[in-house]
Amino acid sequence: MEKKIAVIKGDGIGPEIVNEALKVIEAIAQKYKHTFEYQYIDMGGASIDKYGVPLTDEAITIAKASDAVLLGSIGGDTNTSPWYQLEPTLRPEAGLLKMRKELGLFANLRPAYLYDELKGACPLKEEITEGGFDMMIMRELTGGLYFGERETKEIDGQMVAHDNLVYSESEIRRIAKRSFDIAMKRRKKVTSVDKANVLDTSRLWRKIVNEVAVDYPEVELEHMLVDNAAMQLVKDPRQFDVILTENMFGDILSDEASMVTGSIGMLSSASLREDTLGMYEPSHGSAPDIAGQNIANPIATILSAAMMLRYSFDMDEEAKNIEDAIEKVLKAGYRTVDIMSEDKQQVTCSQMGDLIVENL
Ligand code: IPM
Ligand code: MG
Repeated sequence: MEKKIAVIKGDGIGPEIVNEALKVIEAIAQKYKHTFEYQYIDMGGASIDKYGVPLTDEAITIAKASDAVLLGSIGGDTNTSPWYQLEPTLRPEAGLLKMRKELGLFANLRPAYLYDELKGACPLKEEITEGGFDMMIMRELTGGLYFGERETKEIDGQMVAHDNLVYSESEIRRIAKRSFDIAMKRRKKVTSVDKANVLDTSRLWRKIVNEVAVDYPEVELEHMLVDNAAMQLVKDPRQFDVILTENMFGDILSDEASMVTGSIGMLSSASLREDTLGMYEPSHGSAPDIAGQNIANPIATILSAAMMLRYSFDMDEEAKNIEDAIEKVLKAGYRTVDIMSEDKQQVTCSQMGDLIVENL
């Protein structure tokens, strides 16, 4: 099969981790006789430095014409990087939000699970994590607070800012459907998270999710308020299968969930729409503090590349091959520094990539 991949290395550790992912998918291409054609585009800080904007129209055109987008990470230290002296619409994150919107990537899948091999890194007590946990956070990605009209202006002698939170029925319905579809392939439970005791958008959210649920009688649906969900995630993460939620709640809860696994460097993500085009990136950020040292963990990005093979290219066997290789490398005791523990063998970012390739 021939596939066109738009590659965005990005900022911070982005280039290092993407290089390892590219090594792995090139090895897959050879093994399974596929041809992957890579087109490199810029986004975030790297694009600001080259073109003065965090995303160019040309980059969007290339991404739209590709079969999938593979992304490292974007952004820098918000306290010290000159990118954050620019006006908000010209900062690195604006590029990422624009790319999601332009490509219409409304469904963000963020798996969070406890690796057997890495249980020691989990910050929760053993009695809580016994038996492990495995959840999929489904975050609505192109609506809500991050895309509403916003403004800061002076009123009656003081500065006042507002951000609009808007959701339409159709936006809620499509992410709800996608979540129930995914739940059908998992443990058939959806927890829809909202703030329906306060927000109108949440009350509409709940109504539409209930309507969609009618078509999925096999799936158990529960509604949970977001503050309670934040608590339940650390109290008893085993109770969750699919968590369905709006953009900002999903942003926050997915960071919490990944931290709870103890291995944020291991978690992938996919941003999808109705057809097969998707954007794939690790759940973690650009970690500017360790950039360029060849110590970052490339596994989240490599797992994201595996998700790309599965969801955008329909290459299940190839994706499984990558996931199994990662498991083998972990079983053999190799660790990057973030997941290092006693008696294990510490390796660099590029060594980890090589080891995974060897185990394909
Ligand atoms: C994420 C990030 C982004 C988001 C930022 C960088 C705009 O935190 O992907 O979770 O909030 O969506
Ligand atoms: Mg986030």
